[in-house]
Amino acid sequence: MDSPHPRLMWIMDDARQGAKQIAYQLAVSTDSVELSKGTANIWQTVKIVSDNNRVNYNRKGLQPYTKYYWRVSVWDQNSKINTSAIASFETGLMDKSNWKGTWISDNNDMNAKPAPYFRHAFDLTKKIRSARAYIAVAGLYELYINGEKIGNHRLDPMYTRFDRRTLYVTYDVTSQLQNGKNAIGVLLGNGWYNHQSTAVWFFDKSPWRNRPAFCLDLRVTYEDGTTETISSNKKWKTALSPIIFNSIYTAEHYDARLEQPGWSTAKFIDTAWKSVINRQAPSLNIVAQTMQPIRAVEKIPAQSIKKLDGKTYLFDLGRNISGVSSITVKGEAGTIIRLKHSEKLGKNGYADQSNIDIHYRPTDDKDPFQTDIFILSGKGEETFMPRFNYKGFQYVEVSSDKPIDLKKESLTGYFMHSDVEPVGTINSSNNTLNKIWQATNNSYLSNFFGYPTDCPQREKNGWTGDAHIASETGLYNFDGITIYEKWMADHRDEQQPNGVLPSIIPSNGWGYEWGNGPDWTSTVAIIPWNLYMFYGDSKTLGDNYEAIKRYVNHINDLYPTGLTTWGLGDWVPVKSVSPVEFTSSAYYFTDVNILAKAAKLFGKADDQQKYEALALKIRTAINAKYLNTTTGIYDKGYQTELSVPLYWGIVPDSLKHKVATRLAERVKQDNNHLDAGILGAKAILSALSDNGYADVAYSIASQETFPSWGWWIVNGATTLYENWNIQADDALSLNHIMFGEIGAWYYKGIGGIKVDPQSPGFKNVLLTPNFIEKLDHFESEHTGPYGKIKSSWKRESGVVEYSVTIPANSTATVFFPTGKKVSANGQVVSAGNGLKVVAGSYIYLVK
Ligand code: BGC
Repeated sequence: MDSPHPRLMWIMDDARQGAKQIAYQLAVSTDSVELSKGTANIWQTVKIVSDNNRVNYNRKGLQPYTKYYWRVSVWDQNSKINTSAIASFETGLMDKSNWKGTWISDNNDMNAKPAPYFRHAFDLTKKIRSARAYIAVAGLYELYINGEKIGNHRLDPMYTRFDRRTLYVTYDVTSQLQNGKNAIGVLLGNGWYNHQSTAVWFFDKSPWRNRPAFCLDLRVTYEDGTTETISSNKKWKTALSPIIFNSIYTAEHYDARLEQPGWSTAKFIDTAWKSVINRQAPSLNIVAQTMQPIRAVEKIPAQSIKKLDGKTYLFDLGRNISGVSSITVKGEAGTIIRLKHSEKLGKNGYADQSNIDIHYRPTDDKDPFQTDIFILSGKGEETFMPRFNYKGFQYVEVSSDKPIDLKKESLTGYFMHSDVEPVGTINSSNNTLNKIWQATNNSYLSNFFGYPTDCPQREKNGWTGDAHIASETGLYNFDGITIYEKWMADHRDEQQPNGVLPSIIPSNGWGYEWGNGPDWTSTVAIIPWNLYMFYGDSKTLGDNYEAIKRYVNHINDLYPTGLTTWGLGDWVPVKSVSPVEFTSSAYYFTDVNILAKAAKLFGKADDQQKYEALALKIRTAINAKYLNTTTGIYDKGYQTELSVPLYWGIVPDSLKHKVATRLAERVKQDNNHLDAGILGAKAILSALSDNGYADVAYSIASQETFPSWGWWIVNGATTLYENWNIQADDALSLNHIMFGEIGAWYYKGIGGIKVDPQSPGFKNVLLTPNFIEKLDHFESEHTGPYGKIKSSWKRESGVVEYSVTIPANSTATVFFPTGKKVSANGQVVSAGNGLKVVAGSYIYLVK
């Protein structure tokens, strides 16, 4: 990492009731042995009386290339000390002036198709203690040392606006180096840097586009304490690799006849290789990639194989994924195999891409959509798996120009995504509900590749609206903070001086013309706010503060009345269409409201006052124009129109119940089915369950006929779709996350695990379980910054047994549904205004 102030966090693992930290002491050292003996040469705090479990390293002077060891001692409620195991973090270059390498590439232009190899052989004469490889790349890469691929990341580095931010990745390569002769190899792919495929967003015309290039420092520390750096420079050699074409958007083509065995080993003779050229750095902002990498996280064997004709087979993975397929096959040299990936099948049983290739504008037939091409070397069994591409698919149609023999085991799928740790689980007595939850997670992960995307096939675009809608679902289920932190940096890189953001981020320039109103680009405020709520860490909110302010000020300049018509509105609705001005103004209000709260948090009193007033003005304008205070109906009274103001806090308190009742009635009128697009679907479930209508919310959430989440599932979905109508001609990707709020609602609306805005990061947990009549049991767990929170219940002979776990050093306020008798250990519990509980596990009986 390059951060001068890394955050140090710890969790108190103590199941005792009332377990709590009353003080802590931190120690940081470059010497782990000394640290284990109790001395720290870098930083040793005194005993600090505090229950904080996250501290930013706030000393000056972290050195580059240094491993820091740290540990924490914690005093519990009985003043007993516990000391953690030793943990560590390591700094990277810290400053761009530390780079020794030169940016290099081969001498081809951006239209050249084959991916380039680079190699360099060198001697290491002294005994090696440790070694690190630092590699910054414009494009994608794989790094090799002495013939071995380094690390298990895929599609590194993550996509950024390359001309504004360039990421570098660090590897510990101590064990790959040897005394004497060594060689290092780099294979470069195009990624988003050199987008050769042509589609409606014109990434082929990106301002940063160029032939991929890289800069590398291999820093070796010897036993005698001296260091030596092997760097990219004119001594390196280059040649073309067997990857004859690669596109992040479409596919990869590989000619195994062009393989050069041993190309990254010291023995390899590279006299036929060419000289490299020096290149300009893509940007001067070169920073460590401090985030979970993309990996091939799950291996998915083909479920079935069918021979469709003499030259074509069809593989079915049994589920829809983002990622790649790997094929192992034997055949004659020069045999051309095509692997066409699709989410669905046509009537004839062949792969059908008609729902996902609609925005693709190929200029010839050489770059077929989601279709890898593998040309065999003829040397026995051969395996191909693309390196610089991924797709969205369930089916792979494999055809060849000469007959080949394939069996089910010949093809395997790999589910790829940012490898974020799962932190939530849901289970219930309704299997459809459980499957919806899984499908939501599948779509969330399928759309998480170092930035959130809309879909893994048709676009792979960082659509802002889809991402803020899905962010709570994401944070309840996965520890994704590092990806969002990086994506918020992408926002700041992208923002115009006047505050405007594009609808897709990162962007090549597309998206400033269309789709970038507050209903989409509110990501700039909503995501930092959600990070603060879920992690209790206001860093990103602080980093984005000025960006939010500029954004909000700009809308205020354009729309001084408080109402804005800028936006797309309730996208992909079922039937009823709500006014764009209504939904966009609600998001505008939300951003200003977040800004006012952030101003308060950061002690900016003038801003607080200004933006509280602006928020009030917007809210008043929305209510004045759209709310009938007598009936409690907004506009025409559609589901979206009643849900959005309830969810985002626009309804006057005195009318909340009335509006919620109108919403519940409206849902009944709509036959307990949804009538909403993505903005309505974000709001409706919580709008109901937060206002006394959890069972109505459940009736929608558990529906199995059109239009509903369950309708997708009973029709075989393993991911969420883009359209309620599964026969739609348009907008029918089968892997979209924009209807994904339901994955968060299970925690909020049934389990009732909620953040307490007064005490974020689950320092105090709000528990508002809803014991849904139609469910026999429901289990929810979420691991937050203090540990695992559990909220589970089961019903037996009319009595609900409710089990709760609150992790050490945190508390909870439990709200039971009104009108219930609650007891614990045979004692009646009075839980009127919320029952305050300390850490520990509890069982309540609710009648
Ligand atoms: C994307 C959506 C996105 C929308 C914006 C679509 O093409 O797939 O998910 O939010 O455009 O309108």
